Amino acid sequence: MNSKNILITGAGSGFGRAMAIRLAKEGNNLILNDLNSEGLKETNNLLNSYNIETLLQVGDISDSKFVQSMISDTFYKFKLLHVLINNAGIGGDPTNIIDLPDAVMERIMNVNFKGPWLVTKYAAKKMKTQRELKPIRGKIINIASIAGKDPTPLIGMYSCSKAAVIALTKVLAKELAPRITVNAVCPGFHVTGIYKNDPNLIKEFLDISNKKILLKRIGTAEDITGLVSFLVSEDSNYMTGQIINIDGGVVFH
Ligand SMILES: NC(=O)c1ccc[n+]([C@@H]2O[C@H](COP(=O)([O-])OP(=O)(O)OC[C@H]3O[C@@H](n4cnc5c(N)ncnc54)[C@H](O)[C@@H]3O)[C@@H](O)[C@H]2O)c1
Repeated sequence: MNSKNILITGAGSGFGRAMAIRLAKEGNNLILNDLNSEGLKETNNLLNSYNIETLLQVGDISDSKFVQSMISDTFYKFKLLHVLINNAGIGGDPTNIIDLPDAVMERIMNVNFKGPWLVTKYAAKKMKTQRELKPIRGKIINIASIAGKDPTPLIGMYSCSKAAVIALTKVLAKELAPRITVNAVCPGFHVTGIYKNDPNLIKEFLDISNKKILLKRIGTAEDITGLVSFLVSEDSNYMTGQIINIDGGVVFH
């Protein structure tokens, strides 16, 4: 097994936790970040039975000082970072975009867009110097959303932030080639903590989305882990700048 060091943001819940379990099962060491220390500890406990090393980093990915310290701790412990998965993100309550308070707009853009940019900024600079890793010195995987391709009313600012993540992925792919690959995953409708475990919100979104899903079921957090495992692996070395939907058949572009 070819063990890698992989940093996952937002690993205390949902997709982040599911990816941590899958990648730990595959023998990788993990740097796990989340704002929520309880969720992060819970994820780490779920990895107990795997023979891997973990480093927990509690903090906000939109805070530059925290991000710089997280990247510095990562390299201090592991020396190399093979893969960064920019996963942490927030939704926000369903609101028409013109009714959104300024502070909510800023928080959504800070977490969903500034965060991945900041973490990549400091991680990629180090990845570029990893000459011992050949032919690829590092991989970046951004968790975007189909909402970034087909903007969704009521989660309009979220859609804008994810469209920005898609653009960021393409810019980074071009700027960091040929030694660093950058791809994005666009999930569809998956039951995770992003719906705040609010049964009414979940029902509202699922009623709408179920009608649109060709494969006629709502996604789980685990549904994206196989694709992520492929993007982590050498099998995806000839891919960069790709924005991949994994949504049960909703968006076709
Ligand atoms: N669930 C879906 O249907 C869906 C669909 C498309 C895309 N996504 C994206 O998937 C990613 C993961 O979301 P999820 O659905 O697993 O939700 P989730 O709420 O279960 O997990 C998100 C995690 O990110 C953490 N987080 C939030 N803000 C943070 C910050 N500033 N710094 C560090 N950690 C922070 C949260 O504490 C939480 O543990 C997000 O980027 C989300 O936009 C989710």
